[in-house]
Amino acid sequence: MDLSVRIGDKLTLENPIMPASGPLVGDSEKILALAAQGVGGIVTKTISVREAHVPRPCIIGGNDYIMNTELWSEYPPDRWEKEFLPSIRRAGKPIFISLGYKEEEILSLIPRFEPFADAFELSTHYLGKSLDPIAKTVRAAAQATDRPIFIKLSPHIPDPVEFAQMVKSQGGYGLVAINSLGPVYPVRSSVPSSPLGSADGFGWISGPVIKPLALAIIRKIASAVDIPIIGVGGVSSAQDVIDFIQCGASAVQMLSAAMLKGRTLYRKIIAALPAALESHGFTDFQSMKGLSLKTNTSAVYERRTPIIDPEKCTLCNRCVENCPYNALENRDKKIIVDPTLCFGCGLCESRCPVHAISGILR
Ligand SMILES: Cc1cc2nc3c(=O)[nH]c(=O)nc-3n(C[C@H](O)[C@H](O)[C@H](O)COP(=O)(O)O)c2cc1C
Repeated sequence: MDLSVRIGDKLTLENPIMPASGPLVGDSEKILALAAQGVGGIVTKTISVREAHVPRPCIIGGNDYIMNTELWSEYPPDRWEKEFLPSIRRAGKPIFISLGYKEEEILSLIPRFEPFADAFELSTHYLGKSLDPIAKTVRAAAQATDRPIFIKLSPHIPDPVEFAQMVKSQGGYGLVAINSLGPVYPVRSSVPSSPLGSADGFGWISGPVIKPLALAIIRKIASAVDIPIIGVGGVSSAQDVIDFIQCGASAVQMLSAAMLKGRTLYRKIIAALPAALESHGFTDFQSMKGLSLKTNTSAVYERRTPIIDPEKCTLCNRCVENCPYNALENRDKKIIVDPTLCFGCGLCESRCPVHAISGILR
């Protein structure tokens, strides 16, 4: 099956999944190991004019999240230019070189990395919320190279649509959405303070917990602005890849889930893509792009009550315990719905572990 995706009119990937910038793409050895997993393109750790001095500990994980205080690459640009990128180039995959942060820094790096780059991905993570300096940087970068310029959107930017319009109007090619979210403050139960080594203990959160936020931002942009979007934030399965593409992304990146479950997750997801596409009745990604933007356009006020399938129900009682309206009861080994109490909220259907509840969610 053809898994290729087009990102705008200048870039094509053999499949839609790339690594996202971070420690798994921190040097050539790590990047070549991911290339061998079959990823459709390569992204580098963000390179800046100087190596980063990273406070430690800098990464903690839970079941469905990572919190980190990493900065940009701990290697200087010289090392990337002379050692890492020449060997990464030999993998024969499209390379997105991530650069940060200020205009003059990015302009000094572009000519050094242009020979290795199929595209640049500019991080604006430490530039604040004001669009003016970012707009100036986009314009200057787009004038400095004919390589496509992607801008990585940090989720603290208040208006992603305005941001996307700005990127397009300044000559940017596309967006990578989203960066990790924060600040967040983790605590360990044994110590009432953050285990992270940053001065304030704050970090940034990523992984499956941020997927709904990433999808909302991508949907908003894709519904309003005609610009290529690479979706990132919480991808951990072939179905997630489909969700992002149906919400308007052209391709996706993944990091945290591969840090939590292992690097072979890239290969596993790529192997699962044909079956996932087929299960939705598609044979390629191009025709499913943005499909979900055409649905869910008006609010529903009709109240529906749950239908319980006694054949599937295992009487685990989760729905009874979860119902905020006390509308469900386990009576004589049967789940009974009181329609006068049921608010039609949908929580029971979304939580049923065996899909024995239907009738509410659209
Ligand atoms: C440990 C760590 C380091 C990261 N470093 C960078 C970075 O150097 N540059 C960047 O643009 N994003 C960086 N990110 C953000 C990721 O590229 C990505 O946008 C974010 O983690 C959401 O994707 P995910 O949920 O698949 O991890 C980092 C994330 C993590 C967890």
